[in-house]
Amino acid sequence: MAGYQPFIFAFLGVLSLTLLVHAQHQSGFISIDCGLPAESTYKEKTTCIDYISDANFIDTGISRSIASEFKGTLQQQVWNVRSFPQGVRNCYTINITIGTKYLIRGTFVHGNYDGEGNLPKFDLYLGANKWDTVKVESASNSINKELIHVPSRNYIHVCLLNTGLGTPFISAIEFRPLHNYSYMTISGSLALVFRADAGSTSNQSYRYPDDAYDRIWTPNNRTEWKDLSTDQPINPNSQDHQYEFPASVVMSTAATPTNESAPMELYWEADDPKTKFHFYMHFSEVVKLEPNQSRSFYVTLDGPQDHRYGPVVPHYLYTYTVSDFSDLSAGRSTYNFSIVKAENSTLPPILNAVEIYSVKDFLQSETDLEDVDAIRKIKSTYRIKRIWQGDPCAPKGYSWEGLDCSFDDDKAPRITTLNLSSSGLTGEISADISNLLMLKSLDLSNNSLTGPVHAFLSKLPNLRVLNLERNKLTGLVPLDLIERGDSGSLSLSVGGNPDLCGSRSCKKKKNNTVIPIVASAVGGLLVLTLIVVAIFWGTKRRTKHAAMVDTESNMQNMSLETLQRQFTYSELLRITNNFERILGKGGFGTVYHGYIDNTQVAVKMLSHSSLQGYQQFQSEVRLLMRVHHRNLTTLVGYCYEGTNMGLIFEYMANGDLEAQLSDHGNAKTLTWEDRLRIASNVAQGLEYLHCGCKPPIVHRDVKTTNILLNENMQAKLADFGLSKIFPTDGDTHVSTVVAGTPGYLDPEYHITNRLTEKSDVYSFGVVLLKIITSRPAIERSEARTHVSEFVRSMLAKGDIKNIVDPRLHGNFNSNSVWKAVEIAIGCVSPTAAERPTMSQVVVDLKECMATELARANKGDSRESMNMVNMDLSSALKSLAR
Ligand SMILES: *[C@@H]1O[C@H](CO)[C@@H](O)[C@H](O)[C@H]1NC(C)=O
Ligand SMILES: *[C@@H]1O[C@H](CO)[C@@H](O)[C@H](O)[C@H]1NC(C)=O
Ligand SMILES: *[C@@H]1O[C@H](CO)[C@@H](O)[C@H](O)[C@H]1NC(C)=O
Ligand SMILES: *[C@@H]1O[C@H](CO)[C@@H](O)[C@H](O)[C@H]1NC(C)=O
Ligand SMILES: *[C@@H]1O[C@H](CO)[C@@H](O)[C@H](O)[C@H]1NC(C)=O
Repeated sequence: MAGYQPFIFAFLGVLSLTLLVHAQHQSGFISIDCGLPAESTYKEKTTCIDYISDANFIDTGISRSIASEFKGTLQQQVWNVRSFPQGVRNCYTINITIGTKYLIRGTFVHGNYDGEGNLPKFDLYLGANKWDTVKVESASNSINKELIHVPSRNYIHVCLLNTGLGTPFISAIEFRPLHNYSYMTISGSLALVFRADAGSTSNQSYRYPDDAYDRIWTPNNRTEWKDLSTDQPINPNSQDHQYEFPASVVMSTAATPTNESAPMELYWEADDPKTKFHFYMHFSEVVKLEPNQSRSFYVTLDGPQDHRYGPVVPHYLYTYTVSDFSDLSAGRSTYNFSIVKAENSTLPPILNAVEIYSVKDFLQSETDLEDVDAIRKIKSTYRIKRIWQGDPCAPKGYSWEGLDCSFDDDKAPRITTLNLSSSGLTGEISADISNLLMLKSLDLSNNSLTGPVHAFLSKLPNLRVLNLERNKLTGLVPLDLIERGDSGSLSLSVGGNPDLCGSRSCKKKKNNTVIPIVASAVGGLLVLTLIVVAIFWGTKRRTKHAAMVDTESNMQNMSLETLQRQFTYSELLRITNNFERILGKGGFGTVYHGYIDNTQVAVKMLSHSSLQGYQQFQSEVRLLMRVHHRNLTTLVGYCYEGTNMGLIFEYMANGDLEAQLSDHGNAKTLTWEDRLRIASNVAQGLEYLHCGCKPPIVHRDVKTTNILLNENMQAKLADFGLSKIFPTDGDTHVSTVVAGTPGYLDPEYHITNRLTEKSDVYSFGVVLLKIITSRPAIERSEARTHVSEFVRSMLAKGDIKNIVDPRLHGNFNSNSVWKAVEIAIGCVSPTAAERPTMSQVVVDLKECMATELARANKGDSRESMNMVNMDLSSALKSLAR
């Protein structure tokens, strides 16, 4: 702003003055003390404004203090500075309220913080646009850069650019919400040129709390002026400019020419004739006029006869504002305003306060918001150490290192290149990359990325270069990418990933951890070849089976784990043979039978009503794929294509527990030992969800139809974690499921409205009661007796025989059954606090099992005695995990 020559300052006597302290809160104020130690806050003594440290708004820069000799006269927020010896562009990111008109102020007091008195000159940017140049001319100088601006995003970047003329620094950043009808412009933002309290009698600047908007009014007096003042408060007028009404203390003093016939002059120059200005002259009569007195004047611009505004007759104790901008944009380089006395006025003109702003048309828009979101997430996912601050693309020439952007005239810049080669990246290829829709070139080479090459990369429509060389990626490159590579539309580099197959025909590797894919000769469709799982065939001896569960599930997990991946919808069609065979219909959709190579799978197609965003779906699913336990059904893969969402689970040959317990099931009646083992399995699965997962997973829908049995009658819980994938609201069908199933639902849920681990314990209790009794959770009779009421009434009579499923024909140890009933009744306690944890249940069921096995042991023939003893201990070990 060099080139403006506003008033000449002079100080004339001090008159008595009443300070009017407004009681406004600092509502919406953001007051940042740059360089203040992290987490520090304080209330500034003179303004009572609460300042906070800048540490949470910026990653770079160093904290320094100004020399103590400068502190004395200055407010505390300038005692520290943050200086930026490193990096060309350093930016603050400050979250603000979108749509609010803000007064944004940067304050710069050098105060010889470097001890060397190096006074810099650097540029200040608001986001992508240059706001001003900061030129520090003396260490004691306090420079304020102010802008009245309506942000179009919910954050603002304040950036300091090193232009080679010294180290940038900043003392304070302040945001003050203004009334949205104040300081209206046709376009652009307003940068402060000059704001003065004319005729000030105190030689003191006023800001908050005198000025509700915390504008700083600097005293301005001249030798050819004298002061007038009142001790009465000044009111706003009720007209246009009421929102710009200056502080009453500012309006209560006025300057008037000493030579009563002389005009009052306001003169400034513009360094660029294209610059437009807004000015505001505030007038208020502060003298109670006699009947024979009058004060009226004109404001002229081009010579004394050019009466632009007026006659102005200021009202006693009311503010009247003259403002204009329409005629001030005529390519002038000098502005020479005069306030001249009207011919019939008996008193000379006055001026109480004045503001001059220049218009800033911030034409460069910031990067497309979706690109910004995506790249910010990528930055945090990979904890990128580069200085990635401010807007990713703009201003042109300052985009983040490794990024290239397209700049189309009036459109937001888009990210077209992302080069993160040799950046020490670990983990998987981030799905957020797929949201950089304009990406043409992606270079992730020479990192330590693991996991698969996801299909989402093939959804980037403009991708021309994809370099994934020298990582630790595994699996197969999606066929679509290979085809684009072959056709020449994509330069694809995937070499240097030892476990990644990047061609159409991958040979089986000796190392069985990679699942090869071959293009089938017919139709060129993808066929998955699964390494044949060594299937454990359970022997008749159940104790032996129990001992081997660990091994078996480990093997199975290993093979399935390698398969975990995203499938396309057409792959699902092939896996299920066009959804030929329905296995069942569950809460979230229909389940189909399928094959991945020779392994059977269950494919759950999710109902469309449960649609949600790809990323959320994917992150939940990926979380679930990491949950592994022998008593939880394994999630093999998923599909997300438009409205087609599917989950692929391991196939459970013996269906669900509900069918196994029912009379109609063709299966033979489960023995007591079978039942206890199933209960133990389920308890361990639940315990794992509650205690082995971080954060704990509440199943929310434990019931017999969600307990599946494999070919060895090993029980696994299904549908865990699904409630997280689905919105709690939505159609009634889904919400019923999410809120649990009648009969299994925690009665406390109605009070707390929240399902917790203890809600699962309740549902498990109901399952256990069903296992014991084979009765429905709620009697189908009119009485609709709950199974727990039935058991409690029988217990009251001491009638254990009638509790147990009559089909067991007394083939059980009564102590074992008593114990099981006791556990179940504990679990279904109406109050959650009285229910045991799943860990306790696991321990108690183990005891039950031991009692029952001891009985079976006695009944067995003598010769197998040793064998059984051995098996018993293995069984116990297995149960104890
Ligand atoms: C000013 O804000 C009010 C609400 O606070 C809003 O209704 C109105 O549209 C805004 N006016 C302008 C010009 O932004
Ligand atoms: C401004 O205009 C007045 C006449 O209205 C003239 O006397 C004065 O010299 C001008 N000031 C400057 C700095 O040009
Ligand atoms: C002074 O003259 C102007 C017209 O030039 C008129 O509008 C105004 O009312 C007059 N004021 C007084 C106090 O006579
Ligand atoms: C990515 O940057 C590296 C150097 O940092 C360079 O060698 C490589 O060519 C760049 N990749 C692309 C696709 O431009
Ligand atoms: C690969 O990255 C490492 C550091 O991550 C670096 O030292 C090495 O020079 C890079 N190699 C190439 C060829 O860029």
